[in-house]
Formats: sequence, structure tokens, C-alpha cells
Amino acid sequence: MPTSDIAVITGAGSGIGANTAVRLARTGVTVALLDVNQEGLDRTDKSVQRAGGQAITLVADVGDPDSVADALGRVPGDVVGLLNGAGVIVPLREPRPGGHGPQLGHVLRSRRSQLIDPRNTHGRIGQPEDVADVIAFLLGPAAAFVTGVDIPVDGGFVSQVHLESQVPIIALDSQQ
Ligand SMILES: NC(=O)c1ccc[n+]([C@@H]2O[C@H](COP(=O)([O-])OP(=O)(O)OC[C@H]3O[C@@H](n4cnc5c(N)ncnc54)[C@H](O)[C@@H]3O)[C@@H](O)[C@H]2O)c1
Repeated sequence: MPTSDIAVITGAGSGIGANTAVRLARTGVTVALLDVNQEGLDRTDKSVQRAGGQAITLVADVGDPDSVADALGRVPGDVVGLLNGAGVIVPLREPRPGGHGPQLGHVLRSRRSQLIDPRNTHGRIGQPEDVADVIAFLLGPAAAFVTGVDIPVDGGFVSQVHLESQVPIIALDSQQ
């Protein structure tokens, strides 16, 4: 593999990380796929290859600095972007002995109907693909001149909260 600019994606074995990896690879960016789950990494690697992209896989635990440092030392190029997508929700269920907590994506998908706030104008929870498209845009060449902005990817939730919090504007009659 030629050394080149590389984007590191943690949590690349599933969900948002996996979807972002494929989309980013399509734009020509080489992706370094990092995850604690080898099987997930292999699946994403295959998806990236099918999309015509280039990837390397790195098995590492983001909770272990030595493991991450060792993995990043194997990246054959300059790291120009990072998606920190590795994550689990632990308090909802006891972590499995010797393993990690339940995967966040699974928890969200299984509780879908309870999670839709009325301020979400789309009436559905976001899918990994919804988030991945925006992340891949921000990490990719199309956003080369974009810096320091937050983009809510939330089905309109933040904008609705903003509207609700606005103080009503009372028009003043300048003649009075
Ligand atoms: N703010 C929000 O509303 C919101 C919503 C959805 C997701 N998220 C965040 O996005 C991230 C990804 O969500 P997802 O739906 O893709 O989850 P997911 O469960 O589908 O994928 C998470 C991936 O992280 C990996 N992982 C878990 N612990 C790890 C560790 N210690 N080291 C390396 N890899 C590890 C898992 O193996 C899995 O492949 C999470 O960090 C989550 O907090 C936030």
C-alpha cells in the first residue's frame, strides 16, 4: 500500500465508524480502521475494498493508551483526520465477564420507539448512515476549507429547541 494521507477511524468495526469508513474511502482517502473487535474490522475492510478504497486494520482498545500508541505506530502515512467513534453504553447492562459492555448501536436500535422526541421533525431516530455522510464530508476533500463548525445531525432537535427558547418579539409602533 502506498503511504498517503490517512484518516484514523476508531470504532470502525460497526455502526457509524464502519459506515464513515466506506464513504470516506470512496473519496480517495485511505482509512486506518481501529477497533477492539477483529471480526467487525474484517467486515468493514471488505466493504472498503468493495467500494474501491484502501484500508489498513488495527486491533486496539481505545481505553488502553499503550494499545492505541502501538496501533498508531503501524499507520504507514500522515494522519490527517480522526473519527473517534469507539463507544459503548455500560450502565444499561452489566458488562459481559472479560468483555465489553453492550454495543451502543444495538441498545439504540432495540429501544427505538422510546427514543423519538417530538422535537425530532423527522419522526425517526438517526441511522449510522445519516451521521456517516456528514462525518465523511467533514473529513474528506470536499470540506478542505471548513474549520471549527458544529453541525447537528439530529433530525431537527437542536433547531426546534432553539425556536422554543426564543423570546416572542413584540413589534413597537414608532408613532406611539
Ligand atoms: N450523541 C449521540 O446522540 C450519539 C448517538 C449515537 C452514537 N453516538 C456515539 O457514536 C459512537 C458510535 O456509535 P455506533 O452507533 O456506531 O456504535 P456501535 O456500537 O455500532 O459501534 C461501536 C464500535 O466501537 C467498538 N468499540 C467499543 N469499545 C471499544 C474500545 N474500547 N476500543 C476500540 N473499539 C471499541 C465496538 O467494537 C464497535 O465496533 C459512540 O461513541 C457513541 O457515543 C452518539
